Amino acid sequence: MRIWVVLICIVGVRGEDFPSLITANASIAVVLDRQYLGEKYQPLLDALKDYIKELARVELKHGGVVVHYYSWSTISLKKGFIAVFSIASCEDTWSLFSRTEEEELLLFALTEVDCPRLPPDSAITVTYTDPGQELPQLLLDLRTTRAFNWKSAVILHDDTLNRDMVSRVVQSLTSQIDDEDVPTISVTVFKMKHEINEYLRRKEMHRVLSKLPVKHIGENFIAIVTSDVMSTMAETARDLYMSNTQAQWLYVISDTSIRNSNLSSLVNELYEGENIAYIYNITDDREDCKNGLMCYCEDMMNAFISALDSAVQEEFDVAAQVSDEEWEAIRPTKIQRRDTLLKHMQQHIAVNSACGNCSTWQAMAANTWGSTYGGYVQDNAAAPDNDTNEAIQKIELLQVAYWRPSDGLRFTDFLFPHIVHGFRGKVLPIITYNNPPWTILKANESGSISSYSGLIFDIVDQLAKNKNFTLKLIFPGDLKDVLSNKTVTNDMYSQSAKLTMMAVARKQAAFAAAAFTVLSDRNPGINYTIPVSTQSYSFLIARPRELSRAMLFLLPFTTDTWLCLGFAVVLMGPTLYVVHRLSPYYEAVGVTRQGGLATIHNCLWYIYGALLQQGGMYLPRADSGRLVVGTWWLVVLVVVTTYSGNLVAFLTFPKQEVPVTTVSELLENRALYTWSISRGSYLEFELKNSDEPKYVSLLKGAELTSDSSGLEGNLASGSPLLSRVRKDRHVIIDWKLRLSYLMRAEHLATDKCDFALSAEEFLDEQVAMIVPAGSPYLPVFNKEINRMQKAGLITKWLSAYLPKRDRCWKTSSIMQEVDNHTVNLSDMQGSFFVLFLGFFSASSVLLMEWFYHRRKSQKEDDAIKPYVE
Ligand SMILES: *[C@@H]1O[C@H](CO)[C@@H](O)[C@H](O)[C@H]1NC(C)=O
Ligand SMILES: *[C@@H]1O[C@H](CO)[C@@H](O)[C@H](O)[C@H]1NC(C)=O
Ligand SMILES: *[C@@H]1O[C@H](CO)[C@@H](O)[C@H](O)[C@H]1NC(C)=O
Ligand SMILES: *[C@@H]1O[C@H](CO)[C@@H](O)[C@H](O)[C@H]1NC(C)=O
Ligand SMILES: *[C@@H]1O[C@H](CO)[C@@H](O)[C@H](O)[C@H]1NC(C)=O
Ligand SMILES: *[C@@H]1O[C@H](CO)[C@@H](O)[C@H](O)[C@H]1NC(C)=O
Ligand SMILES: *[C@@H]1O[C@H](CO)[C@@H](O)[C@H](O)[C@H]1NC(C)=O
Ligand SMILES: *[C@@H]1O[C@H](CO)[C@@H](O)[C@H](O)[C@H]1NC(C)=O
Ligand SMILES: *[C@@H]1O[C@H](CO)[C@@H](O)[C@H](O)[C@H]1NC(C)=O
Ligand SMILES: *[C@@H]1O[C@H](CO)[C@@H](O)[C@H](O)[C@H]1NC(C)=O
Repeated sequence: MRIWVVLICIVGVRGEDFPSLITANASIAVVLDRQYLGEKYQPLLDALKDYIKELARVELKHGGVVVHYYSWSTISLKKGFIAVFSIASCEDTWSLFSRTEEEELLLFALTEVDCPRLPPDSAITVTYTDPGQELPQLLLDLRTTRAFNWKSAVILHDDTLNRDMVSRVVQSLTSQIDDEDVPTISVTVFKMKHEINEYLRRKEMHRVLSKLPVKHIGENFIAIVTSDVMSTMAETARDLYMSNTQAQWLYVISDTSIRNSNLSSLVNELYEGENIAYIYNITDDREDCKNGLMCYCEDMMNAFISALDSAVQEEFDVAAQVSDEEWEAIRPTKIQRRDTLLKHMQQHIAVNSACGNCSTWQAMAANTWGSTYGGYVQDNAAAPDNDTNEAIQKIELLQVAYWRPSDGLRFTDFLFPHIVHGFRGKVLPIITYNNPPWTILKANESGSISSYSGLIFDIVDQLAKNKNFTLKLIFPGDLKDVLSNKTVTNDMYSQSAKLTMMAVARKQAAFAAAAFTVLSDRNPGINYTIPVSTQSYSFLIARPRELSRAMLFLLPFTTDTWLCLGFAVVLMGPTLYVVHRLSPYYEAVGVTRQGGLATIHNCLWYIYGALLQQGGMYLPRADSGRLVVGTWWLVVLVVVTTYSGNLVAFLTFPKQEVPVTTVSELLENRALYTWSISRGSYLEFELKNSDEPKYVSLLKGAELTSDSSGLEGNLASGSPLLSRVRKDRHVIIDWKLRLSYLMRAEHLATDKCDFALSAEEFLDEQVAMIVPAGSPYLPVFNKEINRMQKAGLITKWLSAYLPKRDRCWKTSSIMQEVDNHTVNLSDMQGSFFVLFLGFFSASSVLLMEWFYHRRKSQKEDDAIKPYVE
């Protein structure tokens, strides 16, 4: 549906107000605003009329051009013009432009100075100015071409800028511009006295710069100064650490000219990490420089007639090769024609325009980032000096732009290349060694490093991508040492780590791609980046085991319950006996107290039997006695039911040892457990410095294990320390990360889950990369790392290197095993034990009875048959 509408529109336009250049002569509107030009209007009009007539006659080889002259800018554009040429005020030019945009016409405008140029992809703007007044226009052009992307700027100027000029400069940066992409810049202006004396100048500069509230006004500086002030200012800013990677300095130098335009001789030194750009005057003050309104008019009309001629020529050429119908279909649309004309004109002006050619400015950018690392060789002798900050030996300046009044800025590169492109693909030497999981280096058979990975390299690769540099890995010593796994156990004191720190402190590398513990008492010569990871400590303990089930039948009741029960049985026997005995019932009714209950001994056995739900032979006949027995049965019912219910539960859910999961619990159980800490580790260091009682006693009770026990280290799978954990209630305290690796390795080796980690994590240890002290790139790297952290990249990368979660992580695994529990001998051994005890006591009693009987019958024998010789 929409396609049809568009097609109809195109056809409609073609039919009426858009004639081809073949069939009709092109017509152009020339607007000379009488109000703007004032008394220059009439002479200019006459001169222009003559010039165009002559130009069309000489230059236009095909067709002709119809020129309509207007003296006001609010003209109707519906008359099939091909282009509009205007000389008007800035405001009128922009309002005219909005209407030519609607009609898709080409506008080329000559306007006053300090006017934002029209968009270069649909119009041409020339701002006319007298020589020497172009500076505000230059800054305005910088702003509208978005050479800098600033929200605020600090203008520092000396006497070269008079008051009128300052306000124009400020205006050019702060004025509202229709284009939404060009924000206004908030500007702070500082003036400096121009001192001839070098010493006084330096003092003045220091006074002004040191007081700048950089936090509030930003770090983007525009210094409009003379060349000798520039070098003083650069040095002072450097001394005050204001010329850093975050700051941008634009020096606008107006007192140079074409003859003393060698900027390299003016720039004394450059330092790593600076963002400095220069725009300097290379105006040629020859006598034969062309200038003036008429000159610009002629240049632009020249360009237009040349463009028109080639457009007509082209249309003729194409039309000659195809039929009329085909031509109607393929001939350029209005927009296409405007664009070809525009391109041709821009090219023509760039090459042929000579007006204002003398007032030229050139922009240069200092190529500083990564420059001192360019010539790095692995040989230590060739390493840069250990002087804190070294000026770049060979000053390299990039030509980034030219400025002329006629076509404004022409860029060949970015004004601040390092802000846009970081290190611009430079090679940075980066020192590293093998230290899984932070850095994992792999060598191929021929012994050279074939691949690298690990969390730190994930970060470094991202850094390199964002900041546009390439890595050159260097190593702190022999490759064999670098690759060894010895470093795993203890970062802080490994040989490779020490060598790396030394190399970084000597500035042999831009930074170290390795993980270092952040210590509060810094090592001299290095600075830490913000932490890339935070490791917490934890401890490894044997997994809580099931308690022995030998005494399972005792478990349902606590000890006091058993005691109470025992007392109850013992007391109930005599009670029953007394009640039975004292009851007058038997005498009254005249029944004899029969059988069992007549003795205390029998009563006891009766109560015991009732407890085990074995009914006695006799019951008391008196109600008092029966009540005693009846209540006992009730008690028995409750006790027995509770017992058997609980017994089933204990069979199904075996009881565990009480797990030790926090440091406090560990300390409470210090009689039972021993624990160890690696000697010389960060943990020991932190515990020593801590005055929390918990940590003090943790350190006091700890065994300090040294790592000298072998290449494998204490934390290798199968080490003696581990078997102590497994068997002897020992506990290892270390990074949770390392312990979980260990747990995983043990699980893979033995297929059992013998270990558990403490629930509590304590004492965070921060891990960071290191850069040479005072490295200008620390804030750059920190910002990038911070961004990665905020985006969750680092957490994601780290999780890829963490051991896989296996079944040992699941605490519920114990329950699962129990579901299928069948009662086995170990569960039942208690009852057999009781049985055995019963037999044993029965035999002892039997023995006693037997002896008793022997003695008794002996006595009787003695009494009846006295021994007679
Ligand atoms: C175009 O202009 C030329 C020269 O000015 C003239 O000879 C010719 O008649 C004009 N053609 C049309 C269609 O007006
Ligand atoms: C640029 O240099 C020329 C010649 O040295 C000088 O006349 C002109 O005033 C300078 N421009 C500015 C803006 O100072
Ligand atoms: C500019 O000056 C530097 C040092 O002062 C010199 O090496 C270089 O040759 C000069 N360049 C030109 C084009 O004169
Ligand atoms: C004007 O200057 C530019 C460079 O600034 C140069 O390319 C061009 O050839 C010059 N034009 C003339 C006519 O001198
Ligand atoms: C560099 O360090 C060495 C020793 O570390 C010292 O002897 C030398 O003076 C230092 N050089 C500079 C320029 O600081
Ligand atoms: C890196 O720098 C080079 C040189 O300036 C540039 O051509 C390239 O586009 C930059 N790459 C990125 C991703 O910024
Ligand atoms: C080992 O790696 C280096 C550098 O990547 C390469 O030049 C060499 O050919 C590799 N050797 C083998 C045996 O793959
Ligand atoms: C380091 O450990 C990895 C894996 O644990 C192993 O493949 C490698 O051979 C070890 N390297 C050395 C030098 O022991
Ligand atoms: C870098 O380290 C030095 C000491 O080596 C310290 O004085 C300085 O504050 C550190 N800089 C940063 C940004 O942390
Ligand atoms: C327990 O029984 C379930 C099914 O009842 C079975 O899937 C599972 O493998 C058994 N577990 C063990 C350890 O035998």
